[in-house]
Amino acid sequence: MSAVIIFLFVGITINSAIAANSDIYSGYSVHGVQIRHRSDQKVIFEVQADLNVDLWEHGAPGNRDAFIMLSPENREEVLDILDANNMKHYLHIADVAETLREHEADLSRWRQRRQNLEPFQTYARYDEIVAYMERIERQYPEIVTLVNIGKSFEGRDIKYLKISTSNFANPNKPIYFMDATMHAREWVTAPVTLYAIHRLVEDLREEDRDLLENIDWIILPVVNPDGYEFSHTDNRMWRGTRSVNETTNEVTNTSCIGVDPNRNFDVNFNTLGVSSDPCSQIYPGHEPFSEVETRYIRDILLENIDRIQIYMNIHSWGNYVLYGLDNATLPSNVVDQHLVGAAMGAHIDTAKLPVADFYLVGNSNLMLYGTSGSAADYAFVSGVPMSYTLELPGYRDAFEVPPQYIEQINTETWRGIAVSARLSSVYYSARVRN
Ligand SMILES: *[C@@H]1O[C@H](CO)[C@@H](O)[C@H](O)[C@H]1NC(C)=O
Ligand SMILES: *[C@@H]1O[C@H](CO)[C@@H](O)[C@H](O)[C@H]1NC(C)=O
Ligand SMILES: *[C@@H]1O[C@H](CO)[C@@H](O)[C@H](O)[C@H]1NC(C)=O
Ligand SMILES: [Zn+2]
Repeated sequence: MSAVIIFLFVGITINSAIAANSDIYSGYSVHGVQIRHRSDQKVIFEVQADLNVDLWEHGAPGNRDAFIMLSPENREEVLDILDANNMKHYLHIADVAETLREHEADLSRWRQRRQNLEPFQTYARYDEIVAYMERIERQYPEIVTLVNIGKSFEGRDIKYLKISTSNFANPNKPIYFMDATMHAREWVTAPVTLYAIHRLVEDLREEDRDLLENIDWIILPVVNPDGYEFSHTDNRMWRGTRSVNETTNEVTNTSCIGVDPNRNFDVNFNTLGVSSDPCSQIYPGHEPFSEVETRYIRDILLENIDRIQIYMNIHSWGNYVLYGLDNATLPSNVVDQHLVGAAMGAHIDTAKLPVADFYLVGNSNLMLYGTSGSAADYAFVSGVPMSYTLELPGYRDAFEVPPQYIEQINTETWRGIAVSARLSSVYYSARVRN
């Protein structure tokens, strides 16, 4: 009898520990919108910027639909605008709160049914992710160094791993830098980086020995831990940082917290794909690097700029490998970047699920939409030759990828990481020789 009571109590505790407040999305709906050409994209951007519509996915003109989340307040107006522009749209999710509750129940069953899940097999909380990195450093001190780069806005330590068989001291080796969870709600991105750590350190296979021995790795699983935790505890759909600017908030409203970190970098800042409304999901901040979290990424890049050959800024969702520049100016090495990106997409596709889209590879602006202040563009203009925004699959579930798919996404993406590491290091060897 008492055993049963204890079991139930534990179950309830786990549930409440991971349950964000789904009710705030009661009555919200998600709509697919056909994107015929770039002018349709402009309409979508305008409703995003002017009516604070949460854009879940931009869509690729003539190829993939956009997805927008509408509230009971803005739904009618937005759908009228789409109709006025003859844009086809359809209901994709009738009640976002309902799907969030299902997602939470699914995740809690996943955690309860499977004991001893590693953080790369589930949607781990930030503490669990850090504990994993600490254990890896303890067990593999010859090749792993854990770096604490500093505190987030709310005071969480932000940590990354350096993995190297030569203590980062061999200038003939390129550095592969990847990070994830810059956007808080894109949960599936963190396991992918943790799985890369696992494959390089704990489960190195003979065919991957070159990846460990010939390349140095910097892996930062959670760029934005404040937003990430907030998306677990309060608002599953949180995207930005959690910084508070008293000045801004007096003028506007106390409920407007955070900025879009992927618009906050010092490259073409505040010019394209942004909103000056501090409440917007795409508010870039009042100045470049206003966010401490983006300053840390800048510091890692600049500290290692001579040796980082490739930067992989991992997001979800949509199945894209994107390179810059975000203003549609093509980099001089566009062919090389396209080749490495295409190899990455193709290798992932060989292992993809039938329900998944094929990866699309190309310039972020020409294929999708224009932005500014992105991490990938900043890395490129600072001197990283190959710099990508990777958009992992969301299937039909967008940000709420069921935990059953994590292993699939981890292993298929690892293929892409491996081939992009090998190919980009060929370019690094040529660079070192010259
Ligand atoms: C807050 O924002 C204002 C302008 O929006 C800026 O001038 C000020 O420096 C910011 N304060 C801090 C502490 O970042
Ligand atoms: C500020 O936000 C509250 C809800 O948090 C809302 O009721 C109020 O109308 C907002 N005020 C302005 C000026 O936007
Ligand atoms: C795009 O951005 C780059 C980097 O800032 C700049 O050199 C280039 O002139 C820009 N292109 C256009 C068309 O504005
Ligand atoms: Zn993102």
